Amino acid sequence: MRGSPVSRRAVQRFRQLAFSSVGSVKIKLLLGFCIVFALILLASRASSFARWKNPHSFVLQDDNNDNDNNIHRKGYTLLINTWKRNDLLRKSISHYAECPRLDSIHIVWSEPDPPSESLANYLEHIVHENTKDGHEIEVKFDINKEDSLNNRFKENRDLKTDVVFSIDDDVILPCSSVELAFSIWLSAPDTMVGFVPRMHWVDKSENSKDYYVYGGWWSVWWMGTYSMVLSKAAFFHKKYLAMYTNEMSASIKEYVTLNRNCEDIAMSFLVANASSAPPIWVKGKIFEIGSTGISSLGGHSQKRTECVNRFVAEFGRMPLVSTSIKVVDSRNTWFW
Ligand SMILES: *[C@@H]1O[C@H](CO)[C@@H](O)[C@H](O)[C@H]1NC(C)=O
Repeated sequence: MRGSPVSRRAVQRFRQLAFSSVGSVKIKLLLGFCIVFALILLASRASSFARWKNPHSFVLQDDNNDNDNNIHRKGYTLLINTWKRNDLLRKSISHYAECPRLDSIHIVWSEPDPPSESLANYLEHIVHENTKDGHEIEVKFDINKEDSLNNRFKENRDLKTDVVFSIDDDVILPCSSVELAFSIWLSAPDTMVGFVPRMHWVDKSENSKDYYVYGGWWSVWWMGTYSMVLSKAAFFHKKYLAMYTNEMSASIKEYVTLNRNCEDIAMSFLVANASSAPPIWVKGKIFEIGSTGISSLGGHSQKRTECVNRFVAEFGRMPLVSTSIKVVDSRNTWFW
């Protein structure tokens, strides 16, 4: 005998009650799923029908419908940082306009003078000319009063996509590489996916405290591991722009502004701290169309090492996670 008849009945009643309430929740859920599924099916039918009728009318989303509770758009936003190099800006924007899943372009503008009308007109024109499948790509200048490297990570409330492709004005990657990285990001939307890997390691010789060293391209090549991808060419979720703007410690941002350096390391720290995951390096052929960049100046590595140690002190730990994964397009590797 397990328990008295009274308590057994009570248990039974309880079970019935619990089951029926769970059951009704389940039915509601099921109904909800059915409706959502039907809507998705309808939407996809409608869009494929439109595409079949007129292959040139394929638009990523209805452009006239810009309210916030709209479903997020499927492409990515090019977030391009520029400074007094309008010729490079023209070149790179006219290139990226050809990439298929580009949704819109935001130019981070920190010069004292606003962009000239002729530049704006030119960009608008060239983007319209170069867009392959005829969908409209919006070109926007995000004007900043202060000249700071933090500007490139300012929270931007009218981004239409969930993801940005952050790029320097002098970095050109083939659209096929950009597409590959975008697909990888879709599979790992919380992490940074980029083309320029960097690493850090612990220098044991410096006292007892952990001292970190920043490793450039040759270190990555030699060791085969990395723990950052630089924001000069990387995809990341737009939520990290909001976090950088609102949650990053003021002293780190101040340090970035004063030294005109390391905003990319700061962003790598932020994403790694929030996601506890390593970034993903995608192989791509990078063309640097500008002249000598900052990285070729003397003492660059030492400055970057200082940034890493400073940021570790600010975060209270080393958030970066190392990995050795490299993504390649399997169509381009004949040997595997
Ligand atoms: C790091 O992540 C933790 C936990 O997600 C969070 O509480 C903390 O504010 C983050 N630190 C910084 C400096 O962003």
